[in-house]
Amino acid sequence: MIITIDGPVASGKSTAARNLARLLCFHHLDTGAIFRAMTLMAIDEGIDITDEDALIDMLKRVRIGLEDDRVMLCGRDVTERIRLPEVSAAVRPLAENPMIRSFVLDIERSVAKDTDIVVEGRDMGTVVFPDADLKFYLTSSAEERAQRRWEELRQRGTPQEFETVLAELVERDRADMTRDVAPLQVPADAVLVDSTGWSPQQTLEKLHSVVLERLGGRV
Ligand code: DC
Repeated sequence: MIITIDGPVASGKSTAARNLARLLCFHHLDTGAIFRAMTLMAIDEGIDITDEDALIDMLKRVRIGLEDDRVMLCGRDVTERIRLPEVSAAVRPLAENPMIRSFVLDIERSVAKDTDIVVEGRDMGTVVFPDADLKFYLTSSAEERAQRRWEELRQRGTPQEFETVLAELVERDRADMTRDVAPLQVPADAVLVDSTGWSPQQTLEKLHSVVLERLGGRV
């Protein structure tokens, strides 16, 4: 069984997906982590990400492992490093590259094969798993998402002005929603959840109640 959660940056998707997977005893796949791991490899190896031949060579060598929310890159645990600001800053061109997306799509589908899983990203319900059993689109107000990101940056010791964080977030939303390849869209058959003002627990309860309503008896 496949449950997809799509949504914009800092919408609380990862927390919600992880919590829901734990509650249902499903696997969890954070697909942003795959794009981040590829980006980290390109950074570590000094690969020019505008050079398609260099990327083809990278794809021949890259090995990504996803196990219980740990992310392995060529046998090394990179779970923490893929969240570094330099990775966040460099990931967009790779995520917009059709060749990279098609490679990642194969990984996503193979991880989800023959298993019960909650998958989260930008194009899960629209492109990767159009026949998913249940689709969510999780969002909240730009101010609230910027507040989360601001707090996250502060805790990591890389604080930024709130206004800057908000402006960047609005720009990222625009870029994610208007890009040519797999833009962020609300899947036609998704349940839209606006979690503005909710705690992670309230969001989990909402998602869980929809799961029980829609998939009751199967989970
Ligand atoms: O959700 P995140 O910030 O970890 O995602 C990292 C990048 O990957 C971000 O630029 C959005 C992109 N992404 C994507 O294009 N499609 C997905 N399914 C998941 C993430």
